Amino acid sequence: MFRPLSLLIINISKHNVASQIKYSTAILPRLSSEKYNIKRKSFGTINESDINHFRSILSENRVITDESDVLPYNIDWIKNCRGQSKVVLKPKTTDEVSEVLSYCNSKKLAVCPQGGNTGLVGGSVPVFDEIVLNFSLMNKVISLDDISGALVCEAGCVLENLDNYVRQHNLIMPLDLGAKGSCHIGGNVSTNAGGLRLLRYGNLHGSILGLEAVKADGTVIDCLRTLKKDNTGYHLKHLFIGSEGTLGVVTKVAVHCPAVSKAVSLGYFGVNTFEDVLQLYRNAKISLGEILSAFEMADNRAICSTVKNLKLTNPLEDYPFYVLIETSGCDEEHDSEKLNRFLSKEMESGHIIDGTVTSEPAKMRTIWNIRENIAEAGLHDGYVFKYDVSIPLNNYYDIVLLLRKKLEGKYTNIYGYGHIGDGNIHINVTVPEYSKEVCDMLEPYIFEQVAKLKGSISAEHGVGFRKPQFIHYSKDESALRLMKDLKHLMDPNGILNPYKVLPDV
Ligand code: FAD
Ligand code: MLT
Ligand code: ZN
Repeated sequence: MFRPLSLLIINISKHNVASQIKYSTAILPRLSSEKYNIKRKSFGTINESDINHFRSILSENRVITDESDVLPYNIDWIKNCRGQSKVVLKPKTTDEVSEVLSYCNSKKLAVCPQGGNTGLVGGSVPVFDEIVLNFSLMNKVISLDDISGALVCEAGCVLENLDNYVRQHNLIMPLDLGAKGSCHIGGNVSTNAGGLRLLRYGNLHGSILGLEAVKADGTVIDCLRTLKKDNTGYHLKHLFIGSEGTLGVVTKVAVHCPAVSKAVSLGYFGVNTFEDVLQLYRNAKISLGEILSAFEMADNRAICSTVKNLKLTNPLEDYPFYVLIETSGCDEEHDSEKLNRFLSKEMESGHIIDGTVTSEPAKMRTIWNIRENIAEAGLHDGYVFKYDVSIPLNNYYDIVLLLRKKLEGKYTNIYGYGHIGDGNIHINVTVPEYSKEVCDMLEPYIFEQVAKLKGSISAEHGVGFRKPQFIHYSKDESALRLMKDLKHLMDPNGILNPYKVLPDV
């Protein structure tokens, strides 16, 4: 029988994952340019008169130049990359963004657009002295139509704030991720972020109704429509969704928000084999149908190291695999009857060994916290090599076993977890500190394996700074050529997020 979750006291407070980071030089990550042997491109170099010009467009306090104040904007969340920017600009309006970019373009000054700086592929921080264009002050909701569900807001709105806001109108944001307390909707759009609700609501190419963006030369592109249907010519908004700040800067977005589900339940289960995880997923789709809203998996090491490193409590014993199944519907009685029937069958057949199910928000939060904190837990081992790949489900977990064998004796931990409903596995390889030897054993090996299995080398985190040289494992040369043509057309001087997404050769 399933036991109800007794209120677990778990030591997680929902926190802003990127705020309040203070660095001491002892723990500074190495400069990206040195660590990855990158040469600076021939951009202009910022001088005092440029700074004064930015002050005239923005204001004194929105042009940050103090070295220690600039430092956190130079370092990414996993402390893998460090840039050398000397200035952070914080615009409040689209006109200010346009003026800044037009000026930078005329002087060939490179720019790194930055949202909540939670990106995991080094795209959000400069490599050399690119100007950081940070959107945290563009954080206003513009309108919400609670009948159509169309939310219009500025790019710097924090995802969790938006979710809290639309919930007051019986709506939710169509995406949810562990970084929700820090990441911006503009960053989500620019990375085409996936996350925990993708299985139900699809990716952002479907949910973003329209957007406003500014091109490298300062031209404002107004595609900020809120219509579900609009086939008037090329669907230009898609160029900005997932282009990681290389084609333009997103300043406003219109998002379709689905209705909040009145009846939500979350189950957390112990499973013996990966084959059982797959069977469970197949049966969940068949038996739960339209109420299935998330299906996540994590292996034993992912959960155990998270629980240990972050001093949490695992409500279940030790199992080889853990699965989270969420249902969301509008009829509590109907939904729970359906869920219970499914779970009884799966326990009888042995696909589930043990588990717990709850509909209480605080208890559901407790379970989600364990899953959402896997990303952070790895950092406590020292250094994390993070991979985020799509692999056909039959071979989904093989890569974890392959890596453990290949790297025997060289790592602290290797584990797999992810959005199994979307065919997306995250593999974290943790080591006490960055090691080029381990890096060379992992790359390009892991990408070769993924390519052999016809997977994608980046399922949801993007290409950023860390993967352009591997993009060919997932993109054909003809597609890469068109990507480069588009980049040249939209940003001829290449000032927007250089060293990111597109390979040099
Ligand atoms: P940033 O990190 O600041 O930037 C990311 C990229 O977008 C950069 O290339 C940057 O230049 C560009 N960019 C940012 N804002 C703009 C803008 N306004 N205009 C143009 N370009 C811009 N990702 C997922 O897909 N699914 C997950 O489940 C998930 N979970 C995460 C959990 C944790 C704990 C963390 C730390 C990260 C997670 N991520 C996940 C990765 C990351 O949070 C997302 O990619 C997120 O969408 C990034 O948003 P951001 O505002 O932090 O963007
Ligand atoms: C997740 O699913 O938890 C995120 O994508 C972050 C990660 O890869 O750890
Ligand atoms: Zn993920």
